[in-house]
Amino acid sequence: MASPGLYDRIGTTYTRTRVEDPRIAAAIHAALGDARTVLNVGAGTGSYEPLDRELVAVEPSTVMIAQRPPRAAPVVQARAEALPFADSSFDAAMAVLSDHHWEDRPLGLRELRRVARRRVVVFTWDRALAEEFWLTREYLPASKRQLGLAIEEIADCLGGARIEPVAIPHDCRDGFYHAYWRRPDAYLDERVRAGISVFARVDERKTTEMVSRLEADLASGAWQERNAALLDLEQIDLGYRLLIAELA
Ligand SMILES: C[S@@+](CC[C@H](N)C(=O)[O-])C[C@H]1O[C@@H](n2cnc3c(N)ncnc32)[C@H](O)[C@@H]1O
Repeated sequence: MASPGLYDRIGTTYTRTRVEDPRIAAAIHAALGDARTVLNVGAGTGSYEPLDRELVAVEPSTVMIAQRPPRAAPVVQARAEALPFADSSFDAAMAVLSDHHWEDRPLGLRELRRVARRRVVVFTWDRALAEEFWLTREYLPASKRQLGLAIEEIADCLGGARIEPVAIPHDCRDGFYHAYWRRPDAYLDERVRAGISVFARVDERKTTEMVSRLEADLASGAWQERNAALLDLEQIDLGYRLLIAELA
């Protein structure tokens, strides 16, 4: 698993391609329900933080903290595995696309539960479905090793949780790994790849090989032929899930 230092290395250009998608943000905010006080763990540059609640952010990376907008919520430099808050300090605790980076994921998830009074909301993915993605399956199988816990195991670490699918729109604004499922050319762009931790972790030669094979398949029309069914879809279920644990 990656150490928090990963984002001090790869986070410098994060906001170029990683901004919140309003449709995913709406789903996360709805899941927070009536929580007034919220802790956002692995908060990064502040994406998906609701502006209409009292929010505190937790983020270990100095590079990510430095990119938070001036009016963003206050941030505490800490790690999910050791949250510097008393039990039941917040109505809700949330984590967005962060838990797969934690060195001890079960411990971090238990920490979210400990500091929340009412609800924990985690936006993550179901490994089994995420592995089926065409980029992983056909061009970058090496990335499979990074996918970690099964979705049911994540729910168990939260003491049980409702699992809700979140479809990824074809024009998703947040440039995470699966976001460009209908825009394959994007994966050829080094600036896009720089905002995706998967590419920082696989052997560079595998990425180079992926880029040249994908480029050739796009030029010959082989990719379009194999993935014709995707081209008319507005959104797709690629395994992204909201886990919502109700505590009280
Ligand atoms: C993909 S970014 C997501 C950031 C933000 N939540 C978003 O949706 O844009 C993952 C974040 O998790 C943070 N992170 C890594 N290890 C962590 C840990 N042990 N505890 C808390 N956050 C961690 C990284 O520094 C990074 O900011």
